[in-house]
Parts: sequence; C-alpha cells; structure tokens
Amino acid sequence: MSWAREFVELDKKRHDRSTFDCGEDELNDFIKTKAAKHMAAGISRTMVLPAVTPFADGKYPLCSFYAIAPSQIERATLPEALAKRLPHYPIPVFLIAQLAVHKEYKGEGLGKITLIKALEHLFKVNAHMKAYAVVVDCLNQAAQDFYAKFGFEILCSHNDRTRMFMPMGTVEQLFL
Ligand SMILES: CC(C)(COP(=O)(O)OP(=O)(O)OC[C@H]1O[C@@H](n2cnc3c(N)ncnc32)[C@H](O)[C@@H]1OP(=O)(O)O)[C@@H](O)C(=O)NCCC(=O)NCCS
Repeated sequence: MSWAREFVELDKKRHDRSTFDCGEDELNDFIKTKAAKHMAAGISRTMVLPAVTPFADGKYPLCSFYAIAPSQIERATLPEALAKRLPHYPIPVFLIAQLAVHKEYKGEGLGKITLIKALEHLFKVNAHMKAYAVVVDCLNQAAQDFYAKFGFEILCSHNDRTRMFMPMGTVEQLFL
C-alpha cells in the first residue's frame, strides 16, 4: 500500500486510527485516543499522512503522523553561547509533541519525510509567530538517534526524557 501525497489534519470521520501501529504503545495510544481530543481542546495539532487506498468502510489507514504545539523552555537549559543573547524569562519554542511511522513502512524514508514536513509546517508558522527553536522529547534512545541524525542537539533532561532542540535559524536554512 502506498501513502498519499499530502499531510492533512487528522479527521476522525475520514481517518482510521484504530489500525495505526508504530510499535510504541504511547504513540499508538496518542493517535487513537488523544490526538483528536487535544486538537478540539486547542492544545496541539495533528497532521497525518493517509494511505492512498481506503478500507471497505471508506476510512483511510494512517501511514505516519506528527503533532505540534507551542511550548517554552527555560533560558538556563540552553548552552551558554546561545543563552547569553536571550532574555531571562521563558523562551518560546515549538514542540514536536509526537511523530511516528506505521511499522509497515519503517525504513522506507517516511520518518525523514514526516520530520521534514513537521519542520516545514513550523517554519511556516514561524513566519507569523516567532519561536526560538524546535524541541522534541525523545521516547527512547532510538528516537534520540533518529533526531540526532537530522541535526537535533541534546538540550536537557525533561520528565525523564532527553529533550533535543534545533534552533529556528537552522530550520530556516532548510526552507529559505
Ligand atoms: C523513529 C521513526 C520515526 C523512524 O521512521 P523510519 O521511517 O523508519 O525512518 P526513515 O526510514 O525515514 O529513516 C531516516 C533516517 O533515519 C535513520 N534512522 C531511522 N531509525 C533510526 C534509529 N532508530 N536510530 C538511528 N537512525 C535511525 C535511518 O537509517 C535513515 O538514515 P539515512 O537517511 O541515512 O538512510 C520510526 O521508527 C517510529 O515511528 N518509531 C516509533 C515511534 C518513535 O519512537 N517516534 C519518536 C518519538 S520521540
């Protein structure tokens, strides 16, 4: 099965969430039970890449997704060289709250495509409302290795996760 050309906002009526499986319970649970609620509550936005072919009930399986939200970090968590140019109050950032690929598609480049789409999305948001960086809280070492591969750097430990970041200036270089 192949994936669609565009990421679209998660729509419970059009997208089948029940069959998504990336191999991580936390992320599976997020897309199945929390993503739509969080969007309705106005706390994050989830974009999905559906498969081209729908199930018999007309709903499309999901190949990958990302969820983004505004957030903030403490100035003190940044490397001194970066922190010294910033004010002494919390620094606005964009959070990639969730990102996952259905295990059927792993190793085919879809993680890379999904991350680039998430960064492009945030790059466009940044044109209207600025943030200092993109941050991600890594679920495990594999996720950390994945983000490091694309230039994310370790920022600090946050809720027992490794928090990584990419300055928005670096994101801009990708898309300008
Ligand atoms: C992590 C994840 C998104 C990667 O998706 P994927 O489609 O398999 O990744 P891709 O095929 O696009 O790989 C892109 C690059 O990352 C590398 N990569 C993928 N998974 C990696 C890992 N666990 N460790 C190190 N590098 C990894 C690939 O080798 C590839 O490198 P290349 O471009 O030099 O060939 C996917 O495995 C997943 O959904 N995991 C479970 C959910 C998860 O942990 N999400 C992160 C939440 S914080």
